[in-house]
Order: sequence, then C-alpha cells, then structure tokens
Amino acid sequence: MRTETAPVVRLVDYRPSDFLIDRVELDVRLHPSETRIKAILSIRPNPAGRADAPLILDGDELRLLDLAVDGTALPPDAFAATPQNLTLFDPPRAPFRLTIETVVDPSANTKLMGLYRSGGVYCTQCEAEGFRRITYFLDRPDVLSVYTTRIEAEAGEAPVLLGNGNPVAAGAIPGTSRHFAVWEDPHPKPAYLFAIVGGRLDRVAEPYRTADGRDAEIAVYVEPGKSERAAFALDALRRSMRWDERVFGRNYDLDVFNVVAVSDFNMGAMENKGLNIFNDKYVLASPQTATDTDYANIEAIIAHEYFHNWTGNRITCRDWFQLCLKEGLTVFRDQEFSADERSRAVQRIGDVRTLRARQFPEDAGPLSHPVRPTEYREINNFYTATVYEKGAEIIRMLKSHIGAADFARGMNLYFERCDGTAATVEEFLACFAEASGRDLSHFARWYAQAGTPRVVVSGTYDAGGRTYRLDLAQSTAPTPGQPLKEPVVIPVALGLVAEDGGRLDAHSPRVRDDGVFVLDRASDSILFSDVASRPVPSVFRGLSAPVRVALDLSDADLLTLLRHDTDPFNRWQAGQSLATRLLVRLAGVSRPDGAEAEGLAQALLAFLRGNAEADPAFAAQVLSLPSEAEIAQEIAADVDPDAIHRARKAVRAHVGGALRGELMRLRDALASSAPYSPDAASAGRRSLRNMALELIAAGDSGAGAGLVAAQYRDADNMTDRLAALAVNAGLPPSAEREALFQDFYDRYRAEPLVLDKWFAIQAAMPEDGTLERVLRLMNDPAFSITNPNRVRSLVGSFALNNATQFHRADGRGYAFLADMVVALDGTNPQVAARLLTAFGTWRTMSAERRQGAEAALRRVASKPDLSPDVSDIVHRSLG
Ligand code: PHE
Ligand code: ZN
Repeated sequence: MRTETAPVVRLVDYRPSDFLIDRVELDVRLHPSETRIKAILSIRPNPAGRADAPLILDGDELRLLDLAVDGTALPPDAFAATPQNLTLFDPPRAPFRLTIETVVDPSANTKLMGLYRSGGVYCTQCEAEGFRRITYFLDRPDVLSVYTTRIEAEAGEAPVLLGNGNPVAAGAIPGTSRHFAVWEDPHPKPAYLFAIVGGRLDRVAEPYRTADGRDAEIAVYVEPGKSERAAFALDALRRSMRWDERVFGRNYDLDVFNVVAVSDFNMGAMENKGLNIFNDKYVLASPQTATDTDYANIEAIIAHEYFHNWTGNRITCRDWFQLCLKEGLTVFRDQEFSADERSRAVQRIGDVRTLRARQFPEDAGPLSHPVRPTEYREINNFYTATVYEKGAEIIRMLKSHIGAADFARGMNLYFERCDGTAATVEEFLACFAEASGRDLSHFARWYAQAGTPRVVVSGTYDAGGRTYRLDLAQSTAPTPGQPLKEPVVIPVALGLVAEDGGRLDAHSPRVRDDGVFVLDRASDSILFSDVASRPVPSVFRGLSAPVRVALDLSDADLLTLLRHDTDPFNRWQAGQSLATRLLVRLAGVSRPDGAEAEGLAQALLAFLRGNAEADPAFAAQVLSLPSEAEIAQEIAADVDPDAIHRARKAVRAHVGGALRGELMRLRDALASSAPYSPDAASAGRRSLRNMALELIAAGDSGAGAGLVAAQYRDADNMTDRLAALAVNAGLPPSAEREALFQDFYDRYRAEPLVLDKWFAIQAAMPEDGTLERVLRLMNDPAFSITNPNRVRSLVGSFALNNATQFHRADGRGYAFLADMVVALDGTNPQVAARLLTAFGTWRTMSAERRQGAEAALRRVASKPDLSPDVSDIVHRSLG
C-alpha cells in the first residue's frame, strides 16, 4: 500500500516506547519465495511509558501466519493484523512472550529493504526501517534487544549461513537436504542492526587478537571465484581495527567479524553488528578491475562500517533525528583514519571537495535541512551530505574549538557513559562540555541551524603603527522553514604570510597559540601588533569550518599564498581561488579567450617546477581546475552550464598548451615499471601523470589522442586504462574514439563493476549526442534497471556529472530524468528518490532551464501512487 503524503514525524513528539523487548529469538527458514520467520519476543511494559497503552508493532508488507501470547493463541478480537501493523489491544501488563510467525517473498523484494536476494544470495538490509519487513516489531532505535537467530536453508543453495554475534551451533537437518546455523549476539541492539546472510560465498579470513587480548577471526565473503579480490578489504579491515585501538582506545567485542559483499545494494555498506554487508563495489578490488580511487574508497568504507561498532552500535541513536550522532562522528573517524594512512593534506582537499560538491549545494537549495532535522516524512531521504559530511565537519570543529586533549577526554567519557544506550546529540555534547569545562550551548546551534554561513573577511595594514586588522563578519541566508539566522561558533584557523614568504612574528591576544580565532558573533575583528611588513592573510586553514569565505585578495596575494603558505590546504585553495575568479569572469562572456589564463598557467608552471616530484598527489590537486558545478555555485543565479563549460574548456586548453613541455617531462619522470601497488605514494604519481594527460589532450587533441591510445593499450592496471578512456571521451568525435569504447566493452564484458565505469564515463560526455547515447546504453545487456549500481552509473552520472546535457536548454535532460524516476519508483523508491535530488539546483538555473525543470518536477508530482520517498523529495523540491 502506498500513500501519497506520509505523515510528518517530529522530534518534539518523541516519547519513550510503551513496551520494551529484552530478547528476540528468531527462526528463519530461507526459501526463494516463501521464507517463514518465527519470532519469539520477550516483551515487558516500559516503566517510562504509558501504563494502559495497546501494543502496536510495526510491519511493512507483512503477512501474519500465527500469533500467540505465552504459548496460547489469541482470540480474534484481542488483536488486529494488517500489512503495516500488529496491534494487541490489551496486552499483559507484566513480562510475556509473544510468538509471531510471518512469511515473506525475498525474490519479489525489489526495494532491497528487509530480506531479499542478490544474485543467488539471501541478505537483509534493516536500516532504517527494514526489520519491519521481516517480522512485526517495535522498529525504533531506542528498543534494544539481545538476539538469538537460527537460520535454516537448503544446504546446496546456501552453504554459508551468517548472523549477528557469535556462531554457537550448526549442522545438517537429518533426513532432509537442509541445514541450519545458530548465532547469538550478546550485545543489546536495535532492530536496524539485525542481519542474516545465506548463500554460496567464498571466504578469506585471518585471526585477529585485539589490544585487550580477545582472539577473533575476521573474514570477508564474496561471490565464488572472487576471493583474490577480497584481500585488500581484509587488509583494510585489520588496519582499521588497529587504528581504532590506537587512536580511540576501542577494541572489538565479538569472536568473529564478517564482511559480506553483495551486488544489489541501495547504499554503500551497512554496519550490522558483527556482520557488515557491503555493496560489492566497495569490497572487490584487483589491479585489473579497480582504480586507485576504488581502493581508497574501499579502505574508507571498510573503516567507516567497522568504526560504527562503537559509534553507532555500542552507542546507538535514540531516534532517527539523531542520525548525525552516529554518521557525522563516524565519517569524521574514517576521514581521520584515511588521513593517517595516506596524506593528510590530500585527504583534506578531497573531503572539502566532496563537501563543496554535495553538501553546499544541498544546503543552498530546497532540500536544505539542519544536521539534526526536526521533522521528516521519509527517513530514508535524510541519509544526506548534510547529515554525513556537515555532521563530520561539526565534530572536526568541536575538536579544534576545545582542543585535541579535551576532545579525547570527551570521547572517552562518551564511550564510558553512553555505552549500551541509545543516545542523543545533547548527551554527546554534555560529555565534551564536562571534559573541557566549557559551555557548548552556543556551539550546539550548528546542529539546529541549516544553511552554509558566509564569512566576509577583509584586512587593513597600518605601516606606521605596524598593525594589521582583520575584520570578519558572518551571515547565513534563509533556508526552508528558517527565515532568520543567528551567528554560529566558527573556529578560524589563520596565519599571516609575508609577501616575500618570510616569517612574520605578528601577535594578537585574540588568536590562540595554535593559530585559532573563534568568531562567535555576527562580526568581530582581530588586531595584530608588531607586523613588520604588509602581510597576506591566510584564513580558514584546512577549511576550519564548513563556511563560504569571501576574502578579496589580489591575484598577486593569491600567488604569494600558493607559493609560500605553510598550510598546504590553503596553498591549494589559493590556486583554486585564482582559477575560480578567472572562470567566473570568462563564463560571463560569449567567446571566452583562453589567453586570459596565461597568468594562471605561469603560476601553475612555477608551482609544478618546485613541487611536482616531491608531492605528486598534492600537485595533481593543484592542477585540477574547479569543477563546472563549483563554478555554477559561485555564479549562483541564472546559471548557463554551456557558458561555464566553454570557459572551462578554454582555460584548460590554454593551460594544457602552456604547460605541455613540463607535463610531458613529468609524465616520463613519474612513469614506473614496478608492478601496480595501490599505496598512496604510487597512486599519487599516477594521479599526476593522468592529470597531465588530461591537460595535454585539452591543449592539443591530436597529441592527446596519440598518448591516450598508447596509455590505454600499455596500461597494466585499471587506473591508467580508465584514465585514458576518460580522456578519450573528451576528444572530438571520431571512429577511433568509439573504437576505444568498444574495445573496453569487449575486454570487460564479464565484469559488471568495470562496465559501470564505462557507463559513467559515456553518460558524462559533454556533447549533444549524449542523451541518445544514454538511451541506447539502457538497452545494453549489461545494463539492468533493478541494479542500483548500474542505474547510478548510467542515469546518476548523467544527472550529476554532466551539467551541459542534464541541464539542456530544451529540457530533454530533465524530462529523461523524470521518466527514469517514475519508472524506478515502482521497483525501488529509495534509488528513485535519490536520483530525483539531482534537481536540487534547478532554481539557480537560467530562466528557460527553470521552466523545463519545473515542468519535469510537476509531471513527477502529478503521478498517482508515488512512493513516500519520491513524493517527499518532489514536493520539497517544488516548495
Ligand atoms: N548506515 C550506513 C552507513 O553509513 C548507511 C546505510 C543507511 C546503509 C541505510 C543502508 C541503509 O554506514
Ligand atoms: Zn555510516
């Protein structure tokens, strides 16, 4: 049953559950179309709940077979069962055992929530509200239970049977072809962390002894025949576990830790207790099939899900409004892990790029919401960049605001005090207030106030008085439901750089020893004394707060920072600012003149000569121009993506031409004959070589085509081969260009994850024929509308990575996406709703584009029987 408008759930309406479920005993008999689930729930009234309340359990598309209280069937007038609820009108007011038997069809479950089949493998996804698609339950994160799960299946169909916790029994069922396994999870958990898996899977494993002496076995399960591709994930898992012991003092707490890769999955991965289930894209890696970026993502997501064991599982969320409590904190933890394992500066640049590419636009558009929302219609739509990425930025600011030592004390207090509970943001912050002896009530506004603050900074030097004054002012534009904004607490990491790059011993009592100034009112200023010469301000080092910075530095000052700043992030930022300014200006003229990029080109050339070989990964970041989306954000109104594309193309062409000699030299100098290794240093060299290839081709497509063909042919790894294919996509149309696509397809036709890259590159081609190409590719046998990875690669890439074609002035890009959303809504509403968010920037586009986008959105909105997921997004987008 579908409802056009789901009811609004509000944070202020939270009240504790009237009943608690202490124990859950499950017996799951797996069957492709009729899986039976018998649940025995040990229920008691909650002393904190209402004494006379009925017991209302959640369901979703469920069919009840049997029901008993303490072993006795209930009279028909004592209960009511619908697909979405099981109600006991007057349940016992003392502890009792409720036995429920339901039946579900895993093969028909295309929403990929609850119990479903992926390939031949049975698996579950219960966050946020999937457990209710398996059995009737109090499906809310503040009901914590201890689970015992018995799983039974055909031994031939599902030789591997996995559950949460520790394995306690297994065996054949005599006289049948079936077998069973029993799993016991001693840690109380909410239902969203429940999982089972059954299927034919290969396994790689190793022993792990925790720092506090527990012997465990850690394992990764993958499709048969792919176990060599699981080795990197297992290695990343071991490193994640060691890091959490070392940095956060957190040890693992079960005898086994299992990771399972499945090919149909709505999200990246899921932190089910002791049984993480992954989108196989974030597990499987070999040099021949995965890029350096894939390896880095696998490492980060393996870490993320493992870190949830403490920040999410041992301490979970009271309600879904607190989602950032586990997600923001866990993203912060995985970012720090990657920074420690790889390059901190390059990691930070990448994280900021993601924040600006995804979270800033979200926060500037109709879907803007606070990091802790106060209401929702569909919780699945709140797994957003704001909750995850801005949520992580808040933790990062908290650490810089109170200092690393108090932050560590606060974390320890949180782990001690809240372990085993379903906590709130208030309880989390109270630990840091206590540990630091500070009042964090003002800081807490970051959780409640939506929108990206804008900080205007200006500096004035007084040579006579040898003083320098920095004036800072913050403001936040209105967001849906929040017309008025208050100042927030903004840690500003800053420094002054001398024009000649020398040291400046400037002082201000307002700036802490660690270089942080805290801006906590609408405006403030800092007066530096003893400033020997005119300084260049370097503000928001490392992007110390998730804000937009408006600081009007001259090109010469930006060049000073690019050359001399001690903060690598701000060196990179200076280059980006220089390029952004130029690109915005050129996007405003009809025939952009690439020669205007000569200054930028010379700056980049000088930078390369001084830095490229010492830190290629960083240099690649400096060379990479702001994306079309970033330029669009800067322009912010009446955006013409074609103009942006022309400007960026002209600049790239000029830079590529001007740097050609140096880039060719670097490609040789950085070439390696060693066998492929995914480590950060090797990946960094490849990233600079491939950035060089892209620029050379931009400057001279003839020369580019030759290099592309050679690199494509000679590559011994997917990173280099795919980089060649991506540059190929940007070459002028030709038979050779298409032949390379065909060759790639022929080589990898048996590798769905590799073909995803092939789909994505073609869908992002910035040329007229791309929409037709995408429509054609949808008929390719390798494409499948029911597989979320395929859909994201082809349709998602078109909508999110192809500004000129998605935002075609004739509206056909929008119409196509609307069609796809409507088509997908019938099978997988979550994926459909996520695709629809690509319309998030529609109000910033040029007038005719706005018209096309609005028409497409209205067409979606007018469809009968929309899912709550799509209905919620479409109405907010139009609102
Ligand atoms: N909790 C998962 C994570 O971020 C994300 C997720 C949410 C996965 C909902 C599936 C469903 O680690
Ligand atoms: Zn997470």
